[in-house]
Amino acid sequence: MPAWRIVVGSDDAGFDYKEVIKKDLEASDLVASVADVGVDADSHTNYPTIARAAAEMVARGEADRAILVCGTGLGVAIGANKVKGIRAVTAHDSFSVERSVLSNNAQVLCMGQRVIGIEQARRNVREWLTYVFDETSASNHKVREICSYEGL
Ligand code: RB5
Repeated sequence: MPAWRIVVGSDDAGFDYKEVIKKDLEASDLVASVADVGVDADSHTNYPTIARAAAEMVARGEADRAILVCGTGLGVAIGANKVKGIRAVTAHDSFSVERSVLSNNAQVLCMGQRVIGIEQARRNVREWLTYVFDETSASNHKVREICSYEGL
């Protein structure tokens, strides 16, 4: 099992969950490092800026994966997916979180603070850390098709 380098980010609407999840990640044996692209308690950066900053870290290979939180988990996913090579999903249930990695090799998990409870969000992250995409699986050629569209 790899020790993941994770980047976290949120807008104001996801700040509280981002802080809780960051602490969980910092305490996890499955996590090598946690970077935080904001917001902090006093800043008010819009979700597209935060999503792009986190996604670019993953695309540059400075982080393996990202967790993004906004009000719904939707805006940050749209923003992150604009970065070449990034597969970001909004997932709030255990099965979708699992499939986002095992079927889609998504590197970015997005959740909405106004959508699910904090304990479900924390559980999703705990489970997400345990999944590793299998490049020999039947899903790989489908993910490759997405990469090919981007010229990757
Ligand atoms: C608040 O700006 C809210 O719109 C945002 O957090 C997010 O839910 C957007 O998708």
